[in-house]
Amino acid sequence: MEIPWWRDAVVYEIYVRSFADASGDGVGDLAGVRERLPYLRRLGVDAIWLTPFYPSPMADGGYDVADYRGVDPLFGSLADFEALVADAHELGLRVLVDVVPNHSSAAHPWFQAALRGEGRERYIFRDTTNNWQSTFGGPAWTRVADGQYYLHLFAPEQPDFNWRNPEVHEEFLDVLRFWLDRGVDGFRIDVAMGLYKAEGLPNVGDQSFTSVSPVWGQPEVHGVYRDWRRLLDGYPGERMAVGEVWTDSPEDLAQYVRPDELHQSFNFAWLQAPWSAPAFRKVIEDTLSTVPFATWVLSNHDVVRHRTRYEGTEPGTGLARARAALLAMLALPGSAYLYQGEELGLPEVTDLPDEARQDPVFFQSKGELPGRDGCRVPIPWTVDPPSHGFSAGAAEPWLPQPESFAELSVEKQEGVADSTLEFYRRALACRHELAGEIPYSLEWLESPEGALFFTRGTLVCAINCGAHAVRLPGHEEVLLSSGPLRNGLLPPDTAVWLRRPAS
Ligand code: NOJ
Repeated sequence: MEIPWWRDAVVYEIYVRSFADASGDGVGDLAGVRERLPYLRRLGVDAIWLTPFYPSPMADGGYDVADYRGVDPLFGSLADFEALVADAHELGLRVLVDVVPNHSSAAHPWFQAALRGEGRERYIFRDTTNNWQSTFGGPAWTRVADGQYYLHLFAPEQPDFNWRNPEVHEEFLDVLRFWLDRGVDGFRIDVAMGLYKAEGLPNVGDQSFTSVSPVWGQPEVHGVYRDWRRLLDGYPGERMAVGEVWTDSPEDLAQYVRPDELHQSFNFAWLQAPWSAPAFRKVIEDTLSTVPFATWVLSNHDVVRHRTRYEGTEPGTGLARARAALLAMLALPGSAYLYQGEELGLPEVTDLPDEARQDPVFFQSKGELPGRDGCRVPIPWTVDPPSHGFSAGAAEPWLPQPESFAELSVEKQEGVADSTLEFYRRALACRHELAGEIPYSLEWLESPEGALFFTRGTLVCAINCGAHAVRLPGHEEVLLSSGPLRNGLLPPDTAVWLRRPAS
């Protein structure tokens, strides 16, 4: 079988509002992304995933879509999008876009009509509510003027569609065609395990309802992806779809990744695992034995950046571990998803002032949860304030950048051999060089306590999550390490790639 491009692809997530601002208004845009494509090419990724740039009131950073076939003026125009796709393809980069099928914005014409009493069957309106809670906090139901309630699993500004209505299916097939016709290489599907809710909307915890959850992962959702797969397969050029599927088990995840359904699902298991060799090994084994096409992800725009998650008691631990984890992730079979800024070693920004925060999670939890703004702070391209090169104008970036971003900027790291940026570039280049000579499978090697050693053909990867330096697996050539080796030993919080001669 020809290997499809996405099987081993490294995909770079661009949170558009925080990547690069060409218009100078303090918010990132498509023209900004376009200008930075050579940077991404040079970084060595294979594809980009753009978070929603569609017309939206931005109640949830654009995951509240008011028009599925347009570009919000904040981010540019359809012409900007087309130019971006053309340039990306010219540079050999594939482009994935986000599709948000679980809910629309309350400003979507269908919901506006529903509020007037027209076409309510496109959403989930009821006379009485159940006990479901919004993922962002508070009840999942909001009352409208005439006394009915509508369901929203996220913010009240994000009403859930009724996927039991065929009109919703037709609409989304048409939306996918719209972007496929504009040359996108695939889709990232938001809340892919949502869409269908259990018939009758039973309460969570209802004993007479036998499935795990009446809210997520209903079996009917698979029919949607079978239809989408047929559509994607009908286009030339290996178009693909990756689902955002939060599940408790790899078996559930695998349900979505089938020859007639999604090509990939994000595998969040590693991202949820602690810094521990046995935990990492379990995630790797479970994934590879269950999911036909594996993906790996350490950070995205919804979670605390992994540098900060991995922070230990010693200063610098978080960054050392983040670099080591990257090397281990890139050594695994399958595709890896990177999140903008991780190549600079950006930490979570934990001290944003309350008045700067924008995430609905912060507001719906009444300030109890900080929300996700801390991983969405605009990228520092240059050393100098006011926006560290993020914005072409003098406008303040939409979220304030901390002073520490100057030292982490692209300008500061470019050409500096041990910088995180140059380390990412080397790792990605090396992965490309090895691609032809390593199999999709993995074998474990005997590992000292606290460490993991595995091999794929000529590549050997070792990561040390323990407290003591360990001896390396053998006398192979060192290709790359995430930090300095000491007297041939692998120190704690460090990973290494070795090459052994082909047998
Ligand atoms: C997942 C997205 O990644 C997140 O940012 C968003 O808030 C929810 N889905 C709702 O669309």
